[in-house]
Amino acid sequence: MQITTSDLGLAARVQHLTKTYGSGEGEVRALDDVSVGVRRGQFTAIMGPSGSGKSTLMHIMAGLDSPSSGNVWIGDTDITGMGDTDLTLLRRRRIGFIFQSFNLVPTLDVAGNIQLPLDLDGRKPTAEETARIAMLVDTLGLRSRLTHRPHQLSGGQQQRVAIARALATAPDLVFADEPTGNLDSRTGREVLSLLAAASREHGQSIAMVTHDPIAASYADRVIFLGDGRIVADKPRQTPEQITTYMLAAEVNA
Ligand SMILES: Nc1ncnc2c1ncn2[C@@H]1O[C@H](COP(=O)(O)OP(=O)(O)OP(=O)(O)O)[C@@H](O)[C@H]1O
Ligand SMILES: [Mg+2]
Repeated sequence: MQITTSDLGLAARVQHLTKTYGSGEGEVRALDDVSVGVRRGQFTAIMGPSGSGKSTLMHIMAGLDSPSSGNVWIGDTDITGMGDTDLTLLRRRRIGFIFQSFNLVPTLDVAGNIQLPLDLDGRKPTAEETARIAMLVDTLGLRSRLTHRPHQLSGGQQQRVAIARALATAPDLVFADEPTGNLDSRTGREVLSLLAAASREHGQSIAMVTHDPIAASYADRVIFLGDGRIVADKPRQTPEQITTYMLAAEVNA
């Protein structure tokens, strides 16, 4: 009998994942035999030095990039050999993305960008979604910007629009790459609280890349990458514990 991803209590997982770029002398091994799962309903932080493979892991887990070898499951679906059309639908229905390049549509205003996942799915927001979007718009301070287009917004405001869009439909899985990177500390805390609440109160599974020990301390679990491998996997940590670990890892590097 096959053990499924959900039997394991996971929302997504990768097994023996390897990703190389280029070939010969110029080959870069961005991920080297990584096996890990994102636990259902948990908030997971992914940390590690620049170039350690965090974004690559996140992109592959989200079905945005394909592995060189190994397997990827979203829920119980093995997406490794899945066609583009099916993958696009699966992503649209089940996954929210918050990436550093915000991927906002320049011709749509803020309200249009936030509603985009619904529009792409060809449906109107439910009452619950309308209420959630209103809450996100207020919490993220976007109320007075709803009719503005992305180029009229600051970087941090654009980031907040991307966050509202990713959470609007309460997707099962949210992948966030440095979601607080462009935000002041107060707004950053709001965003982290939103992500923590999404997992705690709504059972969503969140994976977040961050360099910030305070941001990572909001997570239930902290995974550390180094040179394309998982070097530590810890339950909730204080910012001090995270900082201490990172300093020790640098000394040992
Ligand atoms: N398209 C690509 N072509 C070649 N090499 C790449 C490509 N994308 C990533 N890499 C390499 O893969 C490695 C991992 O990159 P990745 O972006 O996953 O790192 P990261 O941990 O997210 O770093 P950062 O904290 O700087 O965002 C790096 O050495 C990077 O140079
Ligand atoms: Mg990165």
